[in-house]
Amino acid sequence: MCGIVGYIGPKQAFPILMKGLYRLEYRGYDSAGIAIVDSDLKLYKTKGKVSDLEKFVQGKDISGTIGIAHTRWATHGEPNDINAHPHYSQSKNLALIHNGIIENYALLKEEMIGRGHQFNSDTDTEVLIHLIEDIQINENVSLEEAVRMALNQVIGAYAILIISRDNPDLLIAARKGSPMVIGIGDDEFFIASDASPIVEFTKEVVYLEEEEIACIRRGEKLKLKTIHNKDKTPFIQSLELNLEALEKGGYEHFMLKEIYEQPQSIMDSMRGRLNAEKGIVKLGGISDYENKLTNAKRIIIIACGTSWHAGLVGEYLFEDLARIPVEVEYASEFRYRHPIINEDDIVIAISQSGETADTLAAIELAKSKGATILGICNVVGSSIARVTHAGSYTHAGPEIGVASTKAFTAQVTLLTLMALDIAHRKGTIEMSRYRQLLNELESIPDKVRETLKVDDQIKELARIYTYARNFLYLGRGYNFPVALEGALKLKEISYIHAEGYPAAEMKHGPIALIDREMPVVVIATNKGTYDKVVSNIQEVKARNGKIIAIVTKGDTAVKKLADYVVEIPETEELFVPLLATVPLQLLSYHIAVMRDCNVDMPRNLAKSVTVE
Ligand code: AGP
Repeated sequence: MCGIVGYIGPKQAFPILMKGLYRLEYRGYDSAGIAIVDSDLKLYKTKGKVSDLEKFVQGKDISGTIGIAHTRWATHGEPNDINAHPHYSQSKNLALIHNGIIENYALLKEEMIGRGHQFNSDTDTEVLIHLIEDIQINENVSLEEAVRMALNQVIGAYAILIISRDNPDLLIAARKGSPMVIGIGDDEFFIASDASPIVEFTKEVVYLEEEEIACIRRGEKLKLKTIHNKDKTPFIQSLELNLEALEKGGYEHFMLKEIYEQPQSIMDSMRGRLNAEKGIVKLGGISDYENKLTNAKRIIIIACGTSWHAGLVGEYLFEDLARIPVEVEYASEFRYRHPIINEDDIVIAISQSGETADTLAAIELAKSKGATILGICNVVGSSIARVTHAGSYTHAGPEIGVASTKAFTAQVTLLTLMALDIAHRKGTIEMSRYRQLLNELESIPDKVRETLKVDDQIKELARIYTYARNFLYLGRGYNFPVALEGALKLKEISYIHAEGYPAAEMKHGPIALIDREMPVVVIATNKGTYDKVVSNIQEVKARNGKIIAIVTKGDTAVKKLADYVVEIPETEELFVPLLATVPLQLLSYHIAVMRDCNVDMPRNLAKSVTVE
């Protein structure tokens, strides 16, 4: 969602801000803007891409060593030049950029219109900067104090940056519910929604906490206080991120790069945690909660989108191996449906970005009821990682493509390790079986590497099916979440309608859709309910549907029935999602490329969904 960049220091701000905006493009947006102060406060913004903004400012005055820049993902007001950020205050002395939603903006706006304010845009953001200036003038307080007072009147979520024409040595940042990182350089500060625009300048960062305001003055040390006027000491951390991880490294798209990174990212998720030879699984981040987990009467998994699909695989794993009942909940439903949460429940929150607003709110709810919350996040230092009681990072590395790929397989890997560890502790698994599974899990990165060899074949398949307007994805057991994930990937990036279904449920409705035009992707690997899936394939064939089957190497039965088969290496049933997902990611990728879609930044989507 909206991306924020700010700079104050000795260098020209413009190139740093623009570079930052390009780095944040992956978050998803529909307009961009920039404001810079030297002798004047200059503000430029436009609908469209960051490159459109760059063209727009050509020949204009962009000099200055303090500035703020923004990519906007529209919530209040359509994506156009006027609604784009930054927004001026009434006098045009202040400019503000904002990520989040001011829920009580309508009321505040009405009050200010009554006091003579004029608004240009339909946004909630413009209301906030008017409010800040209104307080500054009427209460005769400093800008910092006016920001603090205004934020006490605001209901909602925000990450904001403010600059002022009158004070080119001051930049103010604040956050609640939306992320903000401050990079500390030599007499300079870089501020952004995440670390990606900062990492090439400095590794020293401070993550702003909830309801904190940063007063960033040229030549001075960073000062923090809460909106309740309590001074805070900045906690400086060192970034582990490296620049190469943020670039395409020779691949045409980030998504393809990230698909190909999976042998490595799965390995990284297991590194230092799995020792098959010694029969050890050790998840350091949650070791204090091992006993609670082992004795849990129930696990609730909360997540959204792809992370929710990983949660479904987790349900099968925990129930199969550790015999603990699991409920997998969409965070957005869970938070509003008055769920029954007990103090001895373990809640596992899964999120790539660690910033998903619904997941955060669901965590807060479960926390308030006394449950223990464990996080599985990819982004280090993210909000979810910080609000959970404990957790484990997936260590998949930065995921830039909006369509989640390597984060999913890393989440599943971590859930697998957790389930195996608990099963071992609880004694719900035979030692010999446990050791066998650990050995097989260790071989998964190589098997994913082997699976990636189907890429050319999938490209051919994609060529055949670019015509299709609908797809059905079917799977059973562990392969049901894989079917859901395959369908989501195709929808997201190729804009083709696709549905994932448990294969046996097809005859209760979706079978009506099947005709000779309808491609049906079936994950039909050789374990579990294989024979039943073969029958489901026959049902599709009997209605002339086109079958694309993901099968285990050496399969014969499905080969006889399917129009196309894609072979993946043999593995244990519970590890199949880690392999079978890969050809489905490639299929959606190639179809999207052939349909000329913007693979890494699909329309309307945002990488981290920081509004509910
Ligand atoms: C995945 O391809 C999606 N873009 C989306 O469904 C995503 O998984 C969802 O928004 C949850 O994000 P999170 O993992 O960062 O919480």
